[in-house]
Amino acid sequence: MPSTHSSGPSIGIDFGTTNSSIALAGPGGGVELVSFPTATGLTESFRSVLYLEQRKQAGRTQIKGFTGPGAIEHYLQAEHKGRLIQSLKSYLTSRTLTGTEVFGRRYTVEDLISRILTDLRLSAERQFGQPIRHATVGRPVRFVGADSVADDDFAVERLRQAFLHAGFESVMFEMEPIAAAYAYESTLDHDELILIGDFGGGTSDFSLLHVGPGVRARGRTEKDLLGNSGLGLAGDSFDARIVRKLVSPALGSDSFERSYAQAADRPASIIPAVPAWIYANLERWHYLSFLKTRNVAEILKSARARAQEPEKIEALINLVEEDLGYQLHQAVQRVKMDLSHEESAEFRFRDGSMDIVATVSRAEFEGWIADDLHSIERCVDALLVASNVAAHEVDRVFLTGGTSFVPAVRRIFESRFSASRVRTGNEFTSVARGLAVRAAEVDASKAEAGLFRGV
Ligand SMILES: Nc1ncnc2c1ncn2[C@@H]1O[C@H](COP(=O)(O)OP(=O)(O)OP(=O)(O)O)[C@@H](O)[C@H]1O
Ligand SMILES: [Mg+2]
Repeated sequence: MPSTHSSGPSIGIDFGTTNSSIALAGPGGGVELVSFPTATGLTESFRSVLYLEQRKQAGRTQIKGFTGPGAIEHYLQAEHKGRLIQSLKSYLTSRTLTGTEVFGRRYTVEDLISRILTDLRLSAERQFGQPIRHATVGRPVRFVGADSVADDDFAVERLRQAFLHAGFESVMFEMEPIAAAYAYESTLDHDELILIGDFGGGTSDFSLLHVGPGVRARGRTEKDLLGNSGLGLAGDSFDARIVRKLVSPALGSDSFERSYAQAADRPASIIPAVPAWIYANLERWHYLSFLKTRNVAEILKSARARAQEPEKIEALINLVEEDLGYQLHQAVQRVKMDLSHEESAEFRFRDGSMDIVATVSRAEFEGWIADDLHSIERCVDALLVASNVAAHEVDRVFLTGGTSFVPAVRRIFESRFSASRVRTGNEFTSVARGLAVRAAEVDASKAEAGLFRGV
């Protein structure tokens, strides 16, 4: 088995908001990704989801957990649905939402993440045939919900704890866009000043740096990195916009109480049938299960009785009661992904009393996410200004991460740097590849240092 250092294999782990992957860098510079089995074949990206289910075995009730593709498969097959938990990385900055109760047992966010990380480690150990105790792990420049460096440090420490709970002895963190830069660098035969844009589920991250064989040969210095920037919005935010503009109105977010609609001299204040915070929870599909409480059920039933369009509130009640967050999210992602390669796409979500069908044009979708696109533009421009680099000085732009498929995101870069300078690729694995390359570099330099000290 390839190994560069006595501490073990050089492993990179990208624990993503939506997808995770693991790579091993061999001594010759080759990188191997871990493959995960699914019902439809092997995949190199492991969904960062956890499904907890209550099972009765020999008269005792047990809580069983499944992760990755298996989590979704078990969830869909289950007659009595348990809890499907996703986007856990987005909770790491929260000082209030530190955990959740599932079937009467309290789990911290670190506990939940460590279940996923343990399974990732075991899969890698199986494939590489050796124990894995150390890894180079990615972190976004700015975590979802972070307002300060202190918030990011807090999130990194919690992520470290989750790795330690998952059986790792030590982890080294690297910025995710810098890792993607190392993956891109391995394709180069000359040095370049590159801008990396990594657009994931939770975060959009940027790094501006010098890379290439010459940089590697002379050894990287701090001066090679001109700057990083990032913001806590990406694919999940786009999904939330689709819910707000398309799904929530079909579930009564624009509906009012009947008394208001019928009054001849309409009152000054408009009373929505259902309070807005309920729809806000709908926008983050993984929050939907938080709505399955007696209190919300009462609010919705009384809203239905008073609503001008009770059938819409009925559909909302069905969504909450049946806990259809996953199915809703799938429908939202489908239309978003279709719009990455079609000018218009059909949104379709059917279940029981609910039947939402709508045609969405790409231009309409781009209007919905316009604020997010502006935030991304501002972040990129601010990085160039802070680094004192003009757009024409950047040799290449490398875009990666699932959300880089969105044409409007690519356009931001094509208009600033010209399409000929923009490269894309390895959307779901470049961060893990680069992390493994980084791990191998550090291992090699440690080995060299050890050699010089005669260790
Ligand atoms: N074809 C596509 N068009 C638009 N969006 C897509 C497409 N394919 C995937 N996505 C989106 O990409 C996101 C996942 O990307 P990725 O796996 O890079 O994120 P991640 O690494 O898990 O998240 P993060 O880096 O923020 O922690 C999801 O929001 C998904 O909906
Ligand atoms: Mg990512």
